[in-house]
Amino acid sequence: VMAEKAGYSHFMQKEIHEQPRAIIDTIRGKFSLEQGTIGGELLEGIQHRIKDFNRIVIVACGTSWHAGLIGKFYIEKFAKIPVEVDIASEFRYRDLVIDDKTLFVAITQSGETADTLSAMRIAKKMGAAVAAVCNVVGSSVSREADSTVYTHAGPEIGVASTKAFTTQVASLFLFALQLAQTKKTMTPDQIRHYLKELVRVPEVIEKTLKHEDYILSLAKKFKDAKDFLYLGRNVNYPIALEGALKLKEISYIHAEGYPAGEMKHGPIALIDENLPVFIICPQSSVYEKIASNVQEVKSRDGIVLAVVTEGDTGLDALADHKIEIPAIAEELSVFPAVVVTQIFSYYVASLLGLDVDQPRNLAKSVTVE
Ligand code: G6P
Repeated sequence: VMAEKAGYSHFMQKEIHEQPRAIIDTIRGKFSLEQGTIGGELLEGIQHRIKDFNRIVIVACGTSWHAGLIGKFYIEKFAKIPVEVDIASEFRYRDLVIDDKTLFVAITQSGETADTLSAMRIAKKMGAAVAAVCNVVGSSVSREADSTVYTHAGPEIGVASTKAFTTQVASLFLFALQLAQTKKTMTPDQIRHYLKELVRVPEVIEKTLKHEDYILSLAKKFKDAKDFLYLGRNVNYPIALEGALKLKEISYIHAEGYPAGEMKHGPIALIDENLPVFIICPQSSVYEKIASNVQEVKSRDGIVLAVVTEGDTGLDALADHKIEIPAIAEELSVFPAVVVTQIFSYYVASLLGLDVDQPRNLAKSVTVE
């Protein structure tokens, strides 16, 4: 068993470390840096309908839903197509407005999640084109979709999803760029700029993993906390949700993820000197906004763990602990940011002596309703 884990203590730890490789495998051969173009494979099967889509609906469950929330930012920014993101178990039991001008995208690691599969069947029946982002060749969702973008994460054993998530996000990034290319909402130069940043992601994750010991020291400090709050804005808001989910799933500590600007409408009431608050605040278009949220937390004596861009000293006076991530395009800062939260959750759970790879009550793939 140790051999399968390649020297790591748990599959989750191994899978966290496999992310640079998994992303390389996922994006390989899908674009040309020189030409600033994305290859055809991604949209195979739906290419001829793209000009007709007036709306995209992304549906998923759990961590895959968080990837979908990030996909919305990419598609709206790059391809200028309105996107809704829904939870499959909500989508399937509602009166829907879907037609043949809708592109439905299911995101699912396993391709077997019952709610996601049913949601896809409903959308297809209503005339939508259905695409999937999926990690398992031959799975139910990939067989029924008109077009599947495969993530090449390899088998993910840990119940808490890590490399499946980051490869989904990388796929959605390329998917959005290809929609932009087809719809001509971006020039090849603009596309090339983002591709150049995308190819840096594996190395940026490697560098983030070098902070593992420091993040372990934080896990030791905070493993007995009763509650956590995770905050982010814009593209890193879903990372706040994902960071909180990961902690809940494997450490059984209550954690809440929130859009930082919404904190004042509720969660701010929870803040006191016992509450650790993870704040994802890399350099970005919303840096000043999130900095003011850090101030709000600090002035109520909350404990601030700030994820910041390397070399940024702007929050030093406010942050109790600062975790640095390498500089990268704002849209892609989600990668190093989520890796920080994965490592933190992993160490909290393992320090608490919990079954990291098989957390209680959870299943890797939920094939029943
Ligand atoms: C379960 C897993 C999660 C996963 C979710 C959706 O809850 O524990 O890690 O995100 O299902 O799975 P899918 O295979 O559809 O991505």
